[in-house]
Amino acid sequence: MSSTKAPQREVFATRGAFIFAAIGSAVGLGNIWRFPYITYDNGGGAFIIPYLVALLTAGIPLLFFDYAMGHRSRGSAPLAFRMASKVAEPIGWFQTGVAFFIGIYYAAIIGWAGCYMFFSLNQAWGDDATGFFTETFLHASDPGISFEFVPGILIPIILVWIATLGILLAGVQNGIARFSKIFIPLLVVLFLALVVRALFLPGAFDGINALFTPDFAALADPAVWIAAYGQIFFSLSIAFGIMITYASYLKRKTNLTGAGLVVGFSNSAFEILAGIGVFAALGFMAAAQGTQVSEVAESGIGLAFMAFPTLISEMPGGALFGFAFFACLVFAGLTSIISIVQVPIQAVREKFGLGDRASTLLVGGIMAVISILLMPTVTGLYVLDTIDAWANNIGIVGGAVVALITIGWIARRLPVLRDHLNAISSFKVGWLWMIILGGLTTIVLIYMLITQIMTYSTEGYEEYPAVLTGTFGWGMIGLLIIASIVLTLIKWPQKTLDAAEAAVADSVAEKNRTNTTHGGAH
Ligand code: ALA
Repeated sequence: MSSTKAPQREVFATRGAFIFAAIGSAVGLGNIWRFPYITYDNGGGAFIIPYLVALLTAGIPLLFFDYAMGHRSRGSAPLAFRMASKVAEPIGWFQTGVAFFIGIYYAAIIGWAGCYMFFSLNQAWGDDATGFFTETFLHASDPGISFEFVPGILIPIILVWIATLGILLAGVQNGIARFSKIFIPLLVVLFLALVVRALFLPGAFDGINALFTPDFAALADPAVWIAAYGQIFFSLSIAFGIMITYASYLKRKTNLTGAGLVVGFSNSAFEILAGIGVFAALGFMAAAQGTQVSEVAESGIGLAFMAFPTLISEMPGGALFGFAFFACLVFAGLTSIISIVQVPIQAVREKFGLGDRASTLLVGGIMAVISILLMPTVTGLYVLDTIDAWANNIGIVGGAVVALITIGWIARRLPVLRDHLNAISSFKVGWLWMIILGGLTTIVLIYMLITQIMTYSTEGYEEYPAVLTGTFGWGMIGLLIIASIVLTLIKWPQKTLDAAEAAVADSVAEKNRTNTTHGGAH
């Protein structure tokens, strides 16, 4: 499949194929293990208010922004930013780099979930799920950096990378779209069955009450709002190059905002469903142990790999429930990791004029090797946690802030992006979209970023040693900034620039503008 203006570029065959791929990307580990705990930890039901505000003021508007950027130029993140403004290219590389690092640890969590599918069958963790996870399974030492390998988790991570690169090698339509089209419906059916099962457990409604009982005092806490915005960005796959890349594979005339609304609301619906299911299950567990839900709810990774195994052991039919739960994590994770890894692959492909196979094997191979070196070690858990915290709270938020300041305030390209969306979409965006994005959202994000940088610099993170946060937190961000500048300095192949310029000139909005300028429209 190819468009007339850029012959080598692959496209999604239909809008449906794109929507499945985009939902596949959005619905991921963030929805199933991250959302429920973040919600609980940030005021329970009161979190739903900042969450919805973040979805409507930042999530959906930024999703439209990413779609417009990628679709207008038919380019990866660096090319899309360059086509919007020449000075903006490093932002595209920075966002690409964030996706690079997220992919490295994301594969590990999918690998763990794959192991836990089988551990569920005989409840391999015995009576102590927490000890099993940290000691027997991960062999986790004290936080730090070590290259002492844990062979048991090496193989699953290698398998995840083989699956990921295999799907990507099959191409955008035959790999990404086809895989998502099969696994997303499967995931939804399986997950719905799990939630319904959880709702029938004794104590389920206590869990749901704990999730949704509002704590309005929490609304006054800036950290709650930061958590809501962070969750929305990660969960919707925005501001780290993914949606720019996927939108670049869309045909010239595609209803972008219509697709965006479907993707945005489907993702949040799944997320809230996951919250209900997980908390119903925790309610049962609390009832079984004669304790409060707050006692059994643990942090992200802990929730899935420590609390859930305990629950599986306690419930009737737990083996099957556990197998299906971890299978859901694997399916949701795989349809997301392919989108994450495709971001740097597409960027390098365009910048260095590489073929599809070569770029997938080269970039995917480098990511796989780094992931395999860092994750299955005795310190992998802490390295993962550190990269996750900095990539999300500084990388994604920082990438979004700088993008909005540069494209919105300095280059003033929001009207061009608005025209691009409106020329082909059913749901029109206007001044409200520009004011929200260029005003409110930008200011909120600047505040969030500054607060986060100050917190990490003054308080550190999780009492981790400076060598860990310095290398995989600040060091990673520093490396990303330098790499973004260096990669920008490398020249683009002329044919890549020509194709992007042709895509912009061929866009419906540009044609309308040309007609108007030449008096065609009036
Ligand atoms: N959007 C993906 C997730 O939620 C990255 O996990």
